[in-house]
Amino acid sequence: LVDGELKKWTGETSDVYSTISSTADYAPTFLGTIPFMNEVQAIEAIDAADKAYANGQGIWPTMKVADRIKCMEDFVIQMKATRSEVVKLLMWEIGKSLSDSEKEFDRTVEYIYDTIASYKELNSRGAKFSKVQGINAMIRRSSLGVVLCLGPYNYPLNETFTLLIPALIMGNPVIFKPAKHGVLLLSPLLTAFQSSFPKGVINILYGRGREVASPIMKSGRVSVLALIGNSKSAIALQDLHPNKNKLRLILGLEAKNPAIILADANLDLALSECIAGSLSFNGQRCTALKILYVHEDVAEEFNKRFAQKVDELSFGNPWEKGVFLTPLPEKEKPAYIQELIEDATNKGAKIINKKGGETTDNFIFPAVLYPINKQMRLYEEEQFGPVVPIMTFKNIQEPLDDMAASDYGQQVSLFGKDIKTIAPLIDTLVNLVCRVNLNSSCQRGPDVFPFTGRKNSAVGTLSIHDALRAFSIRTFVASKDN
Ligand code: G3H
Repeated sequence: LVDGELKKWTGETSDVYSTISSTADYAPTFLGTIPFMNEVQAIEAIDAADKAYANGQGIWPTMKVADRIKCMEDFVIQMKATRSEVVKLLMWEIGKSLSDSEKEFDRTVEYIYDTIASYKELNSRGAKFSKVQGINAMIRRSSLGVVLCLGPYNYPLNETFTLLIPALIMGNPVIFKPAKHGVLLLSPLLTAFQSSFPKGVINILYGRGREVASPIMKSGRVSVLALIGNSKSAIALQDLHPNKNKLRLILGLEAKNPAIILADANLDLALSECIAGSLSFNGQRCTALKILYVHEDVAEEFNKRFAQKVDELSFGNPWEKGVFLTPLPEKEKPAYIQELIEDATNKGAKIINKKGGETTDNFIFPAVLYPINKQMRLYEEEQFGPVVPIMTFKNIQEPLDDMAASDYGQQVSLFGKDIKTIAPLIDTLVNLVCRVNLNSSCQRGPDVFPFTGRKNSAVGTLSIHDALRAFSIRTFVASKDN
């Protein structure tokens, strides 16, 4: 979708096969074909977005607030009609279970409505004058310019839209390039975008990053790089911008969220939260628990029960009832997970659950590894998949020191009962990460909460409320009483 036109594509294409198969020989399932666009379309897209912005004088930043809201409302109404088609593609393209796919779709729709409501509120608050030293000021939030938006494969709809929707509603034209997986599921939405927004306001390109995103960045005409993915791509893209000091970054990056299980923790609760926290959607969540620290007094019992519970998890195709584990969308992922397991076992860890590491085609059964030490890759590498490393500790200072030394700082889960121990710990933990989850696993939502991280985990803060600020600049009108 470029400059309001759904392009007929005659260039390079790529066939999309699902890693899910209903046949006994695991033959990949053909899902469709996607275009691989290139520099020509990338430049057309930046030209179109630039025209819609026109240095702040274009149709989109100057449009009345009520009209911009109307465009967004039109879009969400049309989007709702695509639910069953998009949910089906979420299952086939990225292997997300039916209930999680439905949740992702509904959460995204709700996110759009909440963003519209928050935008209305922001405008009504800004419309009031405040008077200081004889000067009246009316504060508002204004647009920034063209936004290049890149979303991740694990939440191709929800996470992407937490960037795209606030960027648009604040008056910024957007060029959006989806991740490698989860592209076809956007197709049902293209006509909704096309008919709801003026030409050039939303441009959607498929293709390889270096052929599509790189020329856009090199053009120097992007004001905001909004990306949820890995820091390597973010840094590479940022470096291509000729005036990168002027570029605003809104980034959601890697995380290695730990769970700390204290000696007095309610183990039943800690076990169920750690299972869901580390393995829902096969561990492919930036908020997933990626390392567990268990106090040595309870380690034996915790590890034994955790391993058993993991072995009881159900595996199947995403649409099957009650299924928890599903095939992975990335062909190369099982081999990568096996590499991590091998590295840890070569250095002294053991797979403590019976089914850990069993692989069938693109499904790998989660492996629980214990004991992990600092020489192992799993100690600091973000696995983003079905493998759970466990360490023990004697003194709470041990996990705290590890967190302080880590390159990441998104969230932590803390399990324990004694408020006298927990309260001072919270004061320390909030300086190491941005969200402390008490007796519960890590998660991003509800989307009204700030979502960010320290160090290499994030730049900028997302939430319905914060994202509107992230994608705008504070401006005001001042007048004297005369
Ligand atoms: O991949 C990172 C997602 O933002 C995780 O979101 O905690 O709602 O699953 P979630």
